[in-house]
Amino acid sequence: MKKKILLAIVAILVIIQFFRIDKTNPEVVLENDFITITNPPEEIAAILKTSCYDCHSYETKYPWYTNVSPIAWWVKDHINEGRDELNFSEWANYKEKRKKHKLEECIELVEENEMPLESYLITHGDAKLTETQKTELLNWLHAEFKGKKKIDKAELSLNDGAKWQANKATTLGIAKMLEIVNDNTADNQITSLNGKGELLETEMKLIFEKCDMVGESHEQLHTFLLPLVKKFRTLRETTNVEEFYSTEKEIKNHLENYTNYFE
Ligand code: HEC
Repeated sequence: MKKKILLAIVAILVIIQFFRIDKTNPEVVLENDFITITNPPEEIAAILKTSCYDCHSYETKYPWYTNVSPIAWWVKDHINEGRDELNFSEWANYKEKRKKHKLEECIELVEENEMPLESYLITHGDAKLTETQKTELLNWLHAEFKGKKKIDKAELSLNDGAKWQANKATTLGIAKMLEIVNDNTADNQITSLNGKGELLETEMKLIFEKCDMVGESHEQLHTFLLPLVKKFRTLRETTNVEEFYSTEKEIKNHLENYTNYFE
C-alpha cells in the first residue's frame, strides 16, 4: 500500500512537469517604463531593478527552479499578482492619482520591510535592502511622491533671504559629522578609514530618526543631506585611500555650507 502511494506521488510529480509556466515576457516599451520616466539616480535605478523588477515589471528574470513544478506555479503566481498590483513597465499608462497612490504604497511597504517579499530574498540575497539603500530609496520615493523631480539636482535656496529653521538634533548631528571628518587620529589603513564612513552613516541615521521638520525647510534639508548619503557610503566602502580623501574633502566642504542655509 505504502509503495503504491509513493508511486502515485512520483507519477503526479512527473506528470505536473509537463504543465510549464509561460515565461515569455510581454514586450517592454521603454517610454512607458517607470525608470525611464522618473529618471532616478543610478543607484536608485539599480535597487529597483534588483529588488523589485522581477515581480513588478515585464523584465522578469526566471531562475532555474522555475523549470520545476509546482515551485514554478507558485513563483508565477507572485509575478502575476505583483504585476497586477504594480507594474513599472506600464507606468505611463497609470493615471496621476494611481501613480501617487502606488508611490505612497511603495513608501509604506519598503518602510515596513514588507517589500521585496521575504520568500524572494531566500534565493535573491542581493535584493535585500541594506539600511543605506532603504534610506536612499525612501528619500527618493518621498521626493518623487511630492512631485519634486530630480531631487539630486534640486538646488538649495534660502528662505526669502533668511536661513531655514532646522531642528536641534539636525544641527547637532551636522556638527558631529564635521567633528568626525576633522578627526585625523585614524591611521592611514583603508579599513580604519572606512570606519569613519560608518560613523558618519550612523549620524545620518540619527538625523533622519529625530527629524520632526515639515514643509519647505524639511525639503531643503533633504536636498542638503541627500548628496551626503552617497558620499558616506563611498567612504565606508572604498578600497582606495586617494578616493577616500578626495571624497572626505567634498564632504567637509558640503558640511561647512550647512550654516549658510540652516540655523
Ligand atoms: C517576489 C516578488 C516581489 C518582489 C521582488 C517585490 N514585490 Fe511588491 N508585491 C508582490 C506581490 C505578490 C504583491 C501583492 C500581494 C501583497 O501585497 O503581498 C506585491 C505588492 C506590492 C505593492 C502593493 C501595491 C498596492 O497598491 O497595494 C507595492 C507598492 C509593492 N509591491 C512594491 C514593491 C517594491 C517597491 C519592491 C522592491 C523594493 C517590491 N514590491 C518587490 C511581489 C513582489
